[in-house]
Amino acid sequence: MKMDEHVYSDLAKLNAGVLEEIHRVIEDALSKRRKFTIALSGGHTPSQLYALWAEKHGTDTPWDSVHLFWGDERYVPKDDPQSNYRMARESLISRVPIPAGNVHPFRTELPTPEEAAADYEAELRKFFGDEPPAFDVQLLGLGEEGHTASLFPGSPALNEKQRWAMSVTAPVQPPRRLTLTPVLLNRGRNTFFLVAGGKKREILQKLRDEQNPESSEYPAASLQPGGRIIWYLDKAAAG
Ligand code: 6PG
Repeated sequence: MKMDEHVYSDLAKLNAGVLEEIHRVIEDALSKRRKFTIALSGGHTPSQLYALWAEKHGTDTPWDSVHLFWGDERYVPKDDPQSNYRMARESLISRVPIPAGNVHPFRTELPTPEEAAADYEAELRKFFGDEPPAFDVQLLGLGEEGHTASLFPGSPALNEKQRWAMSVTAPVQPPRRLTLTPVLLNRGRNTFFLVAGGKKREILQKLRDEQNPESSEYPAASLQPGGRIIWYLDKAAAG
């Protein structure tokens, strides 16, 4: 499939490139809608991007108008080392003056993942209204088997047409996860895939070779965000 690839020699340069583009989108979003919304991704790759954001633009980002959401979360306590929220809190949120009300994590403290997913949809509806929203930026990662957010190959969430968020069981640890569904992720204005490291080279090549992305077994291909999609790669992943 056709992919707009921006390749950098290493992850540090990749992060600098992504951050520059995020700030361009922030300016555009504020001029049009007076707010900027971003769905953060989890895992390991983005943590240095968030740290760079705090370091380089901790003071000149208009945090009062920036709202942080998550594309997916692990159903673990917020202080669990596996929590995507905890990773973002440690690398970014605790280091910048963003109002607490602008940070919208999944409430994984709720008794069941199903309740946490339904609660997140209610939070999204409260903020955006009842039309499925388009995030100004949605950051997405790529798993070696082609998953993105917590949409794994064969997941029922891939065919969801109503719910904006779902609880899913992942084939990786921790298995209980929460994810936005394609109902939302296919509406993002700007989707930035962040893919780094030699381990991702094989799956990236499979995506490039994919002839029918919409019916691909790989969720990172079958997800078809309507807006701009940029693949930010380091050389190790891009080959
Ligand atoms: C998560 C992520 C997930 C991640 C990929 C890549 O909760 O783990 O949202 O989709 O982006 O698994 O993870 P790495 O960046 O750790 O390779």
